[in-house]
Parts: sequence; C-alpha cells; structure tokens
Amino acid sequence: MKHLHKSTSASFFAFVNAALLPVLFACALLTAIRSAAQAPVPDSPAIEAKARAMVAKLTLEQKIELIGGSPTTMGTIPMPSIGLPSFRMSDGPVGVRSWGPTTAYPAGAALAATWDPALMRMEGEDLARDARARGVHFLLGPGVNIARSPRTGRNFEYFSEDPFLNSVMDVAYIQGVQSQGVIATVKHYALNSQEFNRHNASSDADERTMREIYLPAFEAAVVKGHVDAVMNSYNQVNGVHATQSDFLNLKVLKGEWGFQGILMSDWDATYDAVGPANNGLDLEMPSPKFMNVQNLVPAVRSGLVKESAIDDKVLRIVRTALRYGFLDRPQFDPARSTYSVSDRAVALQGALESITLLRNQDHLLPLDPAKIKTIAVIGPNAYPAVTGGGGSSLTTAFEPVSTVTGIANLLGPRVSVLYSRGLPESNDFFQQTNWAGGIKAESFPSSDFTGMPVVSSPKFIADWRPDTRGPEQKSPRSIRYTTAFKADKTGKYLLLAAAANDDVRKVFIDGKQLEADRLIEGHTPQAWPLDLHEGQTINVVAEYLPHDSVNHFALGIAYEPDLISAEARQMAAAADVVVVAVGFERYSEGEGHDRTFTLPWGEDALIEAMAAVNPHTIVTVTGGVGTDTRRWLSKVPALLQLYYPGQEGGTAVADVLFGKQNPEGKLPVTFDTSWTASASYPYFYPVKGADTALHVTETDGHKVDYVIEHINYGDRLMVGYRYWTTTGKHPLYPFGFGLSYTTFSFSNLKVPATAASGSTVAVSFDVTNTGSVAGAEVAQLYVSDPSAKADRPERELKGFEKVRLAPGETKHVTLSLDARAFSYWDTSAHKWTIDPGKFVLRVGDSSEDTPLHADLTLN
Ligand code: BGC
Repeated sequence: MKHLHKSTSASFFAFVNAALLPVLFACALLTAIRSAAQAPVPDSPAIEAKARAMVAKLTLEQKIELIGGSPTTMGTIPMPSIGLPSFRMSDGPVGVRSWGPTTAYPAGAALAATWDPALMRMEGEDLARDARARGVHFLLGPGVNIARSPRTGRNFEYFSEDPFLNSVMDVAYIQGVQSQGVIATVKHYALNSQEFNRHNASSDADERTMREIYLPAFEAAVVKGHVDAVMNSYNQVNGVHATQSDFLNLKVLKGEWGFQGILMSDWDATYDAVGPANNGLDLEMPSPKFMNVQNLVPAVRSGLVKESAIDDKVLRIVRTALRYGFLDRPQFDPARSTYSVSDRAVALQGALESITLLRNQDHLLPLDPAKIKTIAVIGPNAYPAVTGGGGSSLTTAFEPVSTVTGIANLLGPRVSVLYSRGLPESNDFFQQTNWAGGIKAESFPSSDFTGMPVVSSPKFIADWRPDTRGPEQKSPRSIRYTTAFKADKTGKYLLLAAAANDDVRKVFIDGKQLEADRLIEGHTPQAWPLDLHEGQTINVVAEYLPHDSVNHFALGIAYEPDLISAEARQMAAAADVVVVAVGFERYSEGEGHDRTFTLPWGEDALIEAMAAVNPHTIVTVTGGVGTDTRRWLSKVPALLQLYYPGQEGGTAVADVLFGKQNPEGKLPVTFDTSWTASASYPYFYPVKGADTALHVTETDGHKVDYVIEHINYGDRLMVGYRYWTTTGKHPLYPFGFGLSYTTFSFSNLKVPATAASGSTVAVSFDVTNTGSVAGAEVAQLYVSDPSAKADRPERELKGFEKVRLAPGETKHVTLSLDARAFSYWDTSAHKWTIDPGKFVLRVGDSSEDTPLHADLTLN
C-alpha cells in the first residue's frame, strides 16, 4: 500500500503553479499551527484584524445576505465589495459528486470496515484533490452519525455503531481533506440516526446517551480533527430542531468544544429565522429561506436578534476563508486531474481493505482459478456495478467495475463467465402479473375517492417511475384499482406494491388492509409474502393518492419460485462455482427513508435456488449494515459483506475471491440475528400516541405546523455490541469480526497493575500470524468498568490497531488509554468522571472474541 501514499506536501505543491507558492505556504503554515494545538485555537491576530476590518465595511443587510446560501449555485453568495468570492460546495462524503462525474470511493461503512486511519487520511487527501480539480471549497463530509439500527437508511454513508471507531476515522478523513486546502464538513449534527420524517422527528435522548454515544465523533472532529465546518441535521433533538438548539450549537459545539469554524444547516433544515440566528447557526443552506433580510433586519431592529450575533456568523465565514487563503488563490487547481489512475488506486485500496469475509465453510475460499472452467455470477447486484447507496452521496462514477466484469477481468478468456440477473426488474414483475378478470381503475377528482370517477381498464398496474417527479399536483386525484388474482399453484407468492415518496397507498386483500411499512415507503417496492393454494382467488383493491401530477403506483403478484429465471438456474447448475450478488442499492437503501432488515424482494429465494443446484454458492451482499440471513445462511458455504465498495468494487471482489487479496475487513457494526433481536427494535419507531402538533411562528407572523414524531432513544447506551455483550446474548456476527485466509493469535498482554486515575495507561501485547499466508489483523482493545457507580456497558472499544503480518511473524503492539477511555458521563455533575477501582482490559479480534484480559486498578 506504501506506493499509494501520496505525500501530502510533496505532491500537492508539485501540482501548484509556482506563482501561488508563497500564498499557499503561508496557508499551510497556518493549518500546521492549528493542527499542532490540542483543541481549536483562535486565528492569528493578523487574520482576526483583517476579518474584522472586512466585516466592518458591510451594512447589516449585506451581513445578513452573507449568512444564506446562493439560491442559484451550490455554495455561498459573493460579496465583491470586500473581495469575498462565492465558495463552492459539493457532496460528499464518498466522492465529489455535485459537479459532474467523479471517482466513486467506497462508502463510509466500508471505510470504517478497513479500521485503517492511514487509508482514511489518504482518501481524504484524494477527495480534496478531486475537489480542487472542480474548484470546490467545502466538501460535505464526513458523515459520522451512529449506526444505531440496521434499518437506518444512511448507515452506509456513516461509519459505525461505535463512537471511538467513528472518532478515529473521522479525524483521519478531516485531516486528509483539510490538508489540501479544502474545508471538510462533519455532518449531521446530531442524533440523525433515522431517516423517516427526518424534518420533524425528534430524537429524544438523555444527556449521558448523547455524550457517550452520539456526540463523541463530532467532538473528536472539532477537538482533534479541527474541522472547519459542521452541518446541523434535519431532525429535532429533545423537541428542538438542531439548527436552533442552544444545547447542541452554543453550549456544546461552540462553547465546550471551542469550535471556530462555520456551522451550516442541512439543505432546508431551518424552520425559523430568529431561533437559528440566536442559537449558533452561521449559514443557512441552500438558500436564505428564513435567515434573510426580510426576516432578520426587523428582528435586529426590534432587539429579538443582536447584531453581534450576526457579526459573529459573518466573521466566522470571513475568517475561515482567510485561513484557507481563499481570497488570495484560486480554489480550482488545473494541475489536479479530474480523473486519474491514482484516484482509481485509492478507491481500489479502500474496497480491498473493506470487504469482510463472514463465512467460509471448509475453506471454499480462496478459489483456485486453475480449477475453474465455468463460473456463474448471478443476481441484481452482479451487474451493473452498485457503487453506493441512494441520495446526496451517490456519485456518477466514470468507469465503475461490476462484480461480473471484475471476475471476468481477473480470470481472462480461459474461463467461461456466465451472467444472469436471476430476478425480474420491478417493472417487469408488475407487467407480468396475470390479473384475473381484468382491472378496474377509477380516477376520482378528489383526494378522498369522491366525485365522478374516470374509469379505465389497464392491463397492468405498472406506473412506477422511481426517478421521475411531476410538477406539484394542482387538482387532487385519488385512484382506486379493483382486481383479483387466481393462484395456479399452491405455495409462496409475493405481492409487490410501489409508489413514490409522499404518495399514499393502501392495499386490501379480501377486504383486509395489508399493514404498510412506512419507514421504507416510497423508495422501493414493498413486498408482502402470501401463502395461497391452487385455485384460490383473492380480491385485490388498491387505493392510491398521488402527491404530484404523475402517477407512480405499481402493484403485482407472482409465485415466488417463478421469479427465479430458468437461465440462472441452468447457469448455476452448469458452473463450478456460483457467486450470487445480492443486497441493497440506491432505491432500497438511501437518504430520506429507512430500509428493510430483509434483503430486497426475491433475493432470499434467489440464493436458495442457486444453493439448491450448486453446493459451491458464494453470496456477496451489498449494504451498509447487517441483513436477515436466516432463510439461507446455513445453505451456503461462503458469505462476503461488500458494504458499498465504490467504483472498483468488482475488481476488489474478484481479488478477494481468488486470493489476490487476503480479506481483512472487520465489521464496523454488529450483525443482529433478526430485526426483532436488535437492540434498537423496541425503540426505533416513533412513540405511539406521542405525536404533537407544534406551531412555529416566524418573524413575519406566518405560521407553520409541524407534526413532531418522538423517537425515544430508550436503548440509551445499549447500541450494537454494547447491548449484546451486556446482555450476554450472541449476535449473528459480532462487531469487529471478519475472517481471513490466515489465522492469528494474541499473547503477552502487559498492563500495569495500578495507575493514577486520569493518567495515560500503556497496554501492550503481541499479535502473531499463525497461518501460511500474509494477512492483516485488527487488534481491538475493550475496557470494562465493573466497579463503576453507574451502570456501564459491559465493554467498550477504546483502542485498536491494524497489524500486517507475514506468515509466522509477530508484532508487538502498544496502545495507550487516556483518561476518557475510563470515563463515563456523570449525569448529576454534568461532566466526565472516573470511578477509581477495578477495570478489566480485554484484547482480541472482535467484541466477542477477546482471548487476552488483565485487571487494572485506578487509584
Ligand atoms: C443531505 C446532506 C447533503 C445535502 C446537500 C441533504 O439532503 O442530508 O447530507 O449534504 O443534502 O446535498
């Protein structure tokens, strides 16, 4: 990997026009001065004086204009009178996506699975160079929200379920990005660990839960990473929108952590003018919907908002721009390629290090290419490449490598590579349904199925267009479909219904409404299993309320075994090995909605069908986190978790399957046995009956209603492995787990018997590669505090190191534990505290497998 480490200073400066060197040098020096400090420090007196002089030249109106984004470009507005250009922004976090095609790097969960902060830093540097090639000043990443539940739609963009792992990775990412003269934006602050009703849902958590689980990654980003931008989330926290939370923004972020940079809103995450203006929001994005001249000038004049609060925001923007040298040099760097082989190499390295081998019965893997004549690569995720999940992080990659093409590239022409999707596309499914007796479609000129309907008889109910939105609906419509389905075989059927987000759909079978999963509504077809017997006819009624002027509704029923194509079965039977590529993709896992725990429809059946005809069936799953494997896991010998591997995913999968890469990814999340067994299950949904209508009055007197849904973070500290290890139950696969083609052992743990409370404690041990091939192990250090006065999770990750070892090689590892590693948040004193007494330190390769342990007493 060494060759991939592009030296930060050498290569960066080599790219830059010599005329700019003095300016850049001054800028780099400032960054270095800031990074050397423990916590953020104020800018130099020179920057401070210049910023103040610039701001002093602005009128109140101009200052207010500067704290809202540009309605026409993705960025800030310019202020030519003081020489301030417009600053360009781009998503983030896994590629510079907003200005055309780009390199698609592995998603956050994949990067966390590498447990490799050096790689993370390198990716940060690369992302920033991609940003400079596009003149981008702000990269909207990293995303560091906690993967509280396997159903959270954006887990894949974030890192992990653990605050320590998140912190280490985000600091490396931020330092990489910012070292190249690009501002990193850590998001979404805070407690945005679910997507449903994201504008209004309130994440209700007690302070200890926030401090110990949900805030540390942001704290590290500010205090250790010196991040220069933070993005507030959409949601409310304990009933207050993040963008106007005194606690989050003023007390904690800018107060305790000393954040000196710019706090921006998520896109349209403001809901008021005065609240955000007074509670720390510096920049409203993407446009000044609330924090505008019309609202804030009167608010300042009447004393509702102090002018000094506006000045503080503008000063932060100007100071940050000066700190980065944005006024003295172009952000566009023509010496930096928009696309390059070195980008591809970094993206590939991330994918190679992240892929996690979860099951490998009888050492089926690695495969020996010499022994394979035919390989079948089957499944919806085999081709085209699934580089990322859906939403604002999804990039258009220049040349993504699919699993099929990656395998074919590796094997060359000698081996026959067979490919089939194996399952129909959703639209084919809808168009293949054999409705009995036709369909009656009644379109009513109202939103409640009243009035004189226009009646038609379509052959199918197949209007789902996931990428199309119509203009807002001017005159309301409601559509009722009445039909029937007759089963010609006895067995399992699948009913699929799809509608666009914000549409309302209801399906009734024989008069009984099917319960809809509103967490996933809209973005992917929802499946309901039906058990029918031969000759049985069911009456089907669907009621649909479109949100815009285009219909997006589709409905179909199929006999489940018939979903699997005959071609796929034939290929699997003929092949030496089958790779079934399944999992989530942009519609089934992404921004704005949560996801199912089960695989997308038909995929369980596809795996079963392939395993039934070929015992050498390897499953690869694309997805941010765990999924339900119960139907098929025992029937397949091998399972690989790919997360979202970015554009080089196919090459990386092939390298792992054929042993060119020894798998070294380790799970950044626990894989729960089932959704109901997940720690988040009882608490993921909004609290029933607690919905309240909140009336927010804007400064212009206009009233807006919000329905807040309260999500009780009642699982408190018991997130992921904290829950499983504390309850003594066992998950499917534990946090930190991942197999290798070699084996490792741990020995020789050395921990002092006693130490002073608050001191740094050194922990050392040996890791040995006891197998016959080179490989990498992640040594994980967990701390338990059995004598704490407060209840604490049974163990918590407080250190780790990735170790690369040749066969037979041993490395001595030393990790240090600072005071925070032993502390918990004292809810009455409102501070971190250590209870002196016994601690247990455990070392191993997952949260469950910690062969070494030693006691330590803190005095
Ligand atoms: C997302 C942010 C993103 C922003 C700009 C929002 O919908 O939540 O993560 O940075 O859009 O695209």
